[in-house]
Amino acid sequence: MTPTYPLRRALAQTPTPLQPLQRLSAQLGGPRIWVKRDDLTGSVLSGNKVRKLEFNIAQALDEGCDTLITCGGLQSNHCRATALLGAQLGLTVHLVLRGEPGVEADGNLLLDYLAGARVSCYPRQRYQADLADILRGWRDHYRQSGAKAFVIPTGASDEIGIWGYVRASEELAGDFQSHGISPHHILLATGSGGTQAGLSVGCHLLGLNSAVVGMAVCDDEAYFQHKIRRDLQLWQQRYGVAVDLAQVEVNVNDQYIGPGYAKAGGEVFETIKLAARLEGLVLDPVYTGKAFHGMIEEIKQGRLPAGGDIVFVHTGGIFGLFPQRLQFRDLWESEKTHHRE
Ligand SMILES: Cc1ncc(COP(=O)(O)O)c(C=O)c1O
Repeated sequence: MTPTYPLRRALAQTPTPLQPLQRLSAQLGGPRIWVKRDDLTGSVLSGNKVRKLEFNIAQALDEGCDTLITCGGLQSNHCRATALLGAQLGLTVHLVLRGEPGVEADGNLLLDYLAGARVSCYPRQRYQADLADILRGWRDHYRQSGAKAFVIPTGASDEIGIWGYVRASEELAGDFQSHGISPHHILLATGSGGTQAGLSVGCHLLGLNSAVVGMAVCDDEAYFQHKIRRDLQLWQQRYGVAVDLAQVEVNVNDQYIGPGYAKAGGEVFETIKLAARLEGLVLDPVYTGKAFHGMIEEIKQGRLPAGGDIVFVHTGGIFGLFPQRLQFRDLWESEKTHHRE
């Protein structure tokens, strides 16, 4: 069943390709792995966020807002996408970021500044304790100066942003049909839960036989079960979608978080190298590399069926790779051995 969509501003380059990873699948000897290339939703807008922001920004424009306020870590992909979309649409963008900026802006933060976003950084503890107040304070500040600001929560993972991946589920259903496959699993990185929420309910509404599994990159399963189910309830209340949410499966695997958010162990960096060399697929250490590593481990340990097809949703994040470049130091150091004197 297809739900009635709210307003959407077309901003993403879609549909994105669904491609098989033949060499990696053969090497692992498990299911055939496909990748949904949502890293190709736009060259600098890349990733999952733009699909959600199509709905959040449409809502902001409909309410007559001229300013977007949003928040995240210093290397937030979501903030970078918002900064660039705001510039594209002539909107002011104010980013509330967690952490102290380094001496040099790198990766996503560099793009935030390039796009002309206003950036306010808050130390971790203050950010965690006062985020709602900080966002409200900035919204009031804009109101007092005659502007109208729209606040988009972390990762655009709210009842509005959910639509982005409900819509993507329809795209996936079309991909499955054209490739003649019926994947038993769809895996993706879960950071604030909105992508997973949209895919889980979208696949349910379409009657797809694919279990959607979020590979947590920061918080544990209990946190995401609660967050995703609460966002789905708010979504249903707001839009009155006829679906029995109790029937929607929410599957979270929190076994591969490693040392913490934006911190990955050596095995994740090895997986990133493997995907780049074997398949020309570039992953990042914060989201997709961690989730992809988890997927490979699940296959190796026989926790995913050995036959059939599975899909990994590549949610973007490439700019998060560069600030962690020193983790790959061995590559250029060992390259020296290929040079002749
Ligand atoms: C590249 C990338 N992949 C995956 C995610 C996770 O998506 P979500 O926040 O919807 O869980 C994010 C953001 O958090 C991201 O930036």
